[in-house]
Amino acid sequence: MDKFVIHGGRKLNGVVNVSGAKNSLLALMPATLLSPGTYHFANAPVLRDVTTMGRLLESMGVAVKQENHLITIDSSGVSKFEAPYEHVKKMRASIYVLGPLIARYGYAKVSLPGGCAWGPRPVNLHIEGIRKLGAEIDLDEGYIIARAKRLRGARIVFDVSSVGATGNVMMAATLAKGTTIIENAATEPEIVQLAEVLVKMGAKISGISTNRLEIEGVDALHPTDEVTIPDRIEAGTFLVAGAMAGETVRVDHCEPSHLTALLAKLENAGAALSVGDSWVEITAPSEIHPVDVTTGIYPGFPTDMQAQWTALMSIAKGPSVVTDTIYFDRFKHVPELNRLGAEIEMSENTAIIKGNARLKGAKVMSTDLRASAALILAGLVAEGTTEVLRVYHIDRGYERIEEKLKAIGADIERIAGEEF
Ligand code: UD1
Repeated sequence: MDKFVIHGGRKLNGVVNVSGAKNSLLALMPATLLSPGTYHFANAPVLRDVTTMGRLLESMGVAVKQENHLITIDSSGVSKFEAPYEHVKKMRASIYVLGPLIARYGYAKVSLPGGCAWGPRPVNLHIEGIRKLGAEIDLDEGYIIARAKRLRGARIVFDVSSVGATGNVMMAATLAKGTTIIENAATEPEIVQLAEVLVKMGAKISGISTNRLEIEGVDALHPTDEVTIPDRIEAGTFLVAGAMAGETVRVDHCEPSHLTALLAKLENAGAALSVGDSWVEITAPSEIHPVDVTTGIYPGFPTDMQAQWTALMSIAKGPSVVTDTIYFDRFKHVPELNRLGAEIEMSENTAIIKGNARLKGAKVMSTDLRASAALILAGLVAEGTTEVLRVYHIDRGYERIEEKLKAIGADIERIAGEEF
């Protein structure tokens, strides 16, 4: 397992380019199961999670080829309708194959994902939604087994707004007989892109980007091509890096309209922002003001930026609180940030951050994707050397993060190794 060695205190300056959105591509790739044929996805990030999704699709008979930032998928040869535990345990987004398989092939066997490093992440809404569309679902030996002759439209009201369940049910409903209404649908940009791609494939969906989707089922879809939207979480992470360690950093190839909640909070923290069509430039404040954050569904503050914000607030000039309402247990970065000198206490799903920390380098362990990002950010401003161990998590969702940070002035090296 590789590690990062960071010598803190270097000022960041310059331009950093954002890659395509992992969470968009992880939904678009399974959508190819809905109609046999060839698809091209440009601006595809080179990431471990994307490779994992590719392998899963290959195990079903799909041909997947990634050349730099272009992914070509040929779904003509689908011959297996199963997502085995070996794949799903690596990446929960594997559950996205459920909706397309049951809709197109009338059968799906998908492993239940189980927990996550930071706690439980149920899939009940996916199952209930697909069941409402008329599938017979059994849970057997850790697998969801779904059968249906043809799905039929239904009205589905999600208790909780879920990105994954909205994507899964929307994909399934495109080929159902009749009309499906999804109430309390997720409106995250990645779901909007999925809906737009489904429409390009011939699906009839209205209400896109609202929380009420209406899907009129069609008999067949056809392949299409798409350019993956920019990754708003990667963009957000570089903006927080700019606020913590920057002079002036321009985050380019991003979609500022997807970053509204974060940009408002960064301004409250004292950062100077200038915003263009596809870039945001941040000049770090001389003093970071403490700013409370509560995560919410889009367009609220993303849970995927919570860890990075907690790192930023640890060096703010005063106390703040950060509450995660989406994932209550997603605070594995807190004890590690404290090892670097932050003073953060937990009270249920709220981090109470004292602020004013003078971070000092130490060895820390990365436990999940966004926690790893937070530790790298802290390492950039910590005095001395920080080693972030087990960085394979970061490779799931950030493309060459060390090279991108190095290009704007960070002193960060990847050390390849067996076990750290
Ligand atoms: C997606 C993102 C993830 C992000 C999350 C929230 C992908 C691949 N991953 O995950 O990076 O952190 O959105 O923005 O796009 N829930 C249920 N039952 C379900 C499904 C979800 O109760 O069946 C709850 C979850 O526990 C959570 C909330 O709904 O509290 C939102 O989760 P959801 O939007 O489904 O997250 P994912 O799609 O798994």
